Amino acid sequence: MDYLIGGGHRLNGEVTASGCKNAVLPLLAASVLTDEPMVFCNCPDIADVRNMLLLLQATGKHTDFCDGSITVSGKASNNLLPAALCARLRGSGLLLGSLLAKTGGASLPQSGGCAIGDRPMDIHIDGLRALGAEVSERKGICCRGSIAGGRYRLRMPSVGATENLLCAAAACVHPVTLENCAVEPEVEQLQQVLQSMGAEITGMGTSTVTVRGGRLHGCSAEVIPDRIECATYLATCAAVGGKVTVKRCVPRHLGAFLPLMKGRFHIEEGQDCITICSDGVFEGFGYISTAPYPGFHTDLQQITAALAAVACGKTVIVENMFENRLTHNASQLALMGANITVRGRRAEIFGSKLHGACVTAADLRGGAALVTAALAAKGQSRVRCANHILRGYENFEQKLSRLGADIRAIED
Ligand code: EPZ
Repeated sequence: MDYLIGGGHRLNGEVTASGCKNAVLPLLAASVLTDEPMVFCNCPDIADVRNMLLLLQATGKHTDFCDGSITVSGKASNNLLPAALCARLRGSGLLLGSLLAKTGGASLPQSGGCAIGDRPMDIHIDGLRALGAEVSERKGICCRGSIAGGRYRLRMPSVGATENLLCAAAACVHPVTLENCAVEPEVEQLQQVLQSMGAEITGMGTSTVTVRGGRLHGCSAEVIPDRIECATYLATCAAVGGKVTVKRCVPRHLGAFLPLMKGRFHIEEGQDCITICSDGVFEGFGYISTAPYPGFHTDLQQITAALAAVACGKTVIVENMFENRLTHNASQLALMGANITVRGRRAEIFGSKLHGACVTAADLRGGAALVTAALAAKGQSRVRCANHILRGYENFEQKLSRLGADIRAIED
């Protein structure tokens, strides 16, 4: 699927953020830990969620998805995950810890995800071994045994590894202490849900977390709003001009992105909404360096680069989290006339006027960034391989159209 986009139209109105992709995926993984029903509301109907439900069904769980609510029930008994399904999303790797805890083993052929770097899983593996599991890497990742308790320090605050180890620990009656954990809002929601299931968790939302697990029961939860989606609509309005209110969001979840935008645009923060006003003319952003939460989120790097491409002035972006998350989009923005140079992990951008072009998305957030740039460009653009975007943005075309964007999906 491609998007045909007519640039130069201001955006005005309200848009509601959907539930967070990177929050619901670990919650679905955690549902393996109990045979009792788990009910999650405010779930986004996106490809990654649909594929995660297929993976849960492959383990033996029953799933139902209706009107934004997902119910997962039944017993997980099969821990050999289908390779084709695992390859569709990075989130498949999150099943390692919960399947190990529930069934005494798990085999993950190869997880998928955005082509933004190598995406190794050495921290997941090292952590599971340190806590008592046997893990081999002959064909993908195969772990077995049980978590015996203990302490493990992550060499870096990996989001996925933190989530996997939390799930593995949640069924262990002996205490497990994890140090240098990721502290993203999505990780904190997983901790809250594991506690609602019966695990005792101290240090929630901090970098040192202790889990005392045991027999876990079902529960229900409302998925937190998607902070990346929220920031995407704010950045798009900033780039093309207009006034947009993003509803059902949590301003503090946007980390360093919001202060950066406040320095260039009129931003009003409500309890659960953010309004931005832009005349489409703004200075470059100076120096941006991506970092774990609450720093500048790597998932907002490509969208911010598209915004910087139409600024008046210079922006330097350093991508510290993923080794290959700059080059492709820079080449595509250059097709639209952007003045952007990438050397290693550093992009130097001198804002300019963009013109429409045919560009190709290579990953989820990069694809959204190309749509942002096309909406700000003069003339018609085509964003090819836009299916990537549908992995993480619910009703993307409809939400933008309702704000006044000239965007139409066509089959490629
Ligand atoms: C999660 O990926 C998100 N995905 C990513 O969002 C997000 O960019 C990332 O966290 C960082 O916030 C999901 O939650 C499904 P990491 P994850 O483990 O868990 C290295 C999106 O667009 N690393 O925190 O894979 C890794 O290579 C996606 O929604 C190891 O070296 O990220 C990377 O350089 C893209 N060994 C860094 O750590 C490991 O064992 C951060 O990775 C694990 C990670």
